[in-house]
Amino acid sequence: MSSHSSQRKSPPTYPGLFITFEGPEGSGKTTQCQHLAQWLQTNGQSVLITREPGGTPIAEAIRNLLLTKKTGPQKHETITPVCEAALVLAARSQHVTHTIVPALQKGMIVLCDRFFDSTLAYQGFGRGLNREALTRFNDFATGGIRPTLTFLLDLPVKEGLQRRKKASKQNRMDQESLAFHERVHRGFITLARQDAKRWRKLDAQQSPEQLAEEIIRHIQPMVPKSISPRKKRTSNTRLATKPKKSRA
Ligand code: TMP
Repeated sequence: MSSHSSQRKSPPTYPGLFITFEGPEGSGKTTQCQHLAQWLQTNGQSVLITREPGGTPIAEAIRNLLLTKKTGPQKHETITPVCEAALVLAARSQHVTHTIVPALQKGMIVLCDRFFDSTLAYQGFGRGLNREALTRFNDFATGGIRPTLTFLLDLPVKEGLQRRKKASKQNRMDQESLAFHERVHRGFITLARQDAKRWRKLDAQQSPEQLAEEIIRHIQPMVPKSISPRKKRTSNTRLATKPKKSRA
């Protein structure tokens, strides 16, 4: 992939805090998002949990198109890498406009299960699309918004795929070759190395409880500095959409 453009305009900023979770298949992102949301909520923060592709009704419909294993007349038509990227970015445009930005404008903490780094890892490193083109297309679709902090839940590809099989969570991406998933994994590691200030790389082989504690240790110092805690409320966590099944 070509190098990242250094000429990008500075991204928009909002009163809230935008945090993303990234990682290969089966890394436990969904569980950790939910755990962190609970912790933030008990500490008086307003939280929105959301995911990509998805997070609005239209974006969730695009997710189904992208991830459902193909049957019927669609079975023999492959989705091209460019079509895949365009669908992911179409969903992101809906998601950023209708869900993420309004929540950040209200000062909420947005926890997002995958975002643009997944596009670079899957469509860039995995499918071989040009990084610069993906970045431009992404910024065109979203206005260039970036997370403040990104957790990489890292584990060996084979272990993640095994976890997915065990949990019977198989989608169109899981059917890709091991080599594809290895390229995606290498992509995440490269991205995390290139922007160490934003990324926190964590060992997702440790127990979910240990991982959750480590995540909180990273977040704790940021929360009071980034936004002022609100009065404690009984329920201040919102789900952008109700996923049918929780996915790792
Ligand atoms: P997940 O919700 O279980 O992580 O599944 C989402 C799938 O979508 C996963 O295989 C990664 C893929 N994906 C992309 O290929 N590109 C993207 O930009 C995003 C956000 C996800």
